[in-house]
Amino acid sequence: MESLSDKEMAPLSSLDVWEDDVLERYPEPGPAKTKEEFRKYDNAEDNPVREFYRLNHKYQTYNNVLAKKANFLSFDKKEMPWWDAMDFLNTLVDDSDPDTSLDQLQHLLQTAEAIRADGHPDWFVLTGFIHDLGKVLCLFGEPQWNVVGDTFPVGCKFSDKIVYPEFFAANPDIDDERYNTKYGVYSHQCGLDNIHMSWGHDEYLYHLTKDHLPEPALYMIRYHSFYSQHRENAYDHLLNNHDREMFKWVDKFNPYDLYSKSPKPPVVAELKPYYEDLIAKYLPKTVKL
Ligand SMILES: [Fe+2]
Ligand SMILES: [Fe+2]
Repeated sequence: MESLSDKEMAPLSSLDVWEDDVLERYPEPGPAKTKEEFRKYDNAEDNPVREFYRLNHKYQTYNNVLAKKANFLSFDKKEMPWWDAMDFLNTLVDDSDPDTSLDQLQHLLQTAEAIRADGHPDWFVLTGFIHDLGKVLCLFGEPQWNVVGDTFPVGCKFSDKIVYPEFFAANPDIDDERYNTKYGVYSHQCGLDNIHMSWGHDEYLYHLTKDHLPEPALYMIRYHSFYSQHRENAYDHLLNNHDREMFKWVDKFNPYDLYSKSPKPPVVAELKPYYEDLIAKYLPKTVKL
């Protein structure tokens, strides 16, 4: 890959800008929010989210995914206690307005607290708390489009249900006959475990947690950004029956991720003992990143 400019590494002022855009695409059901809450751009070209997806769709190739897996699934970068990893994630500073944006830890605590308030099992609460920890990839020098954004299968035809499908025209895989058919390198209902998803924080955290959390938690972690399936059912031909059963949990999780944001920041010091206990109950002492 040619070397990337700063703008190509980080088209978004903050990773949250992607999530705000997802929220605009899939607003909370109920009374419509007033329009001015969302950013508007005079020209489509000025929209950083659009630029972000242009890069994401161009560079998320089958080979990109294999290369990122080879690098990051060796877990040889850092080792630290889980809570320290959450603090490490929170060092992800960006250019967004500090008055209006919550930091990463606050989003995670709000998601988890909303799950806890609804009386769900403690592993579900823990899942809410750690679900975006994979964004530490940014701290290892990965461009934003290799960390966040809607995820989708690579190695087969890109669905037009994926946001900004026109940008896949620049992805070399669409000219590769191994990868550009409906099934590509896969087969009918072969199951998601046999599929390579575009690289990002979801897949990375799945591998960090897969030996420790119940299976529904792992589905929530691994597929929470797979909007073209959990919202649009674009890849029913690849899911098997077990995936379909497990996606009920992904559906259950998604509203907490998208709709739990409140301007009131949680008090970390008050909540920390409860979450430290949850971590100790399910996860090993340290995480190898
Ligand atoms: Fe996420
Ligand atoms: Fe999230």
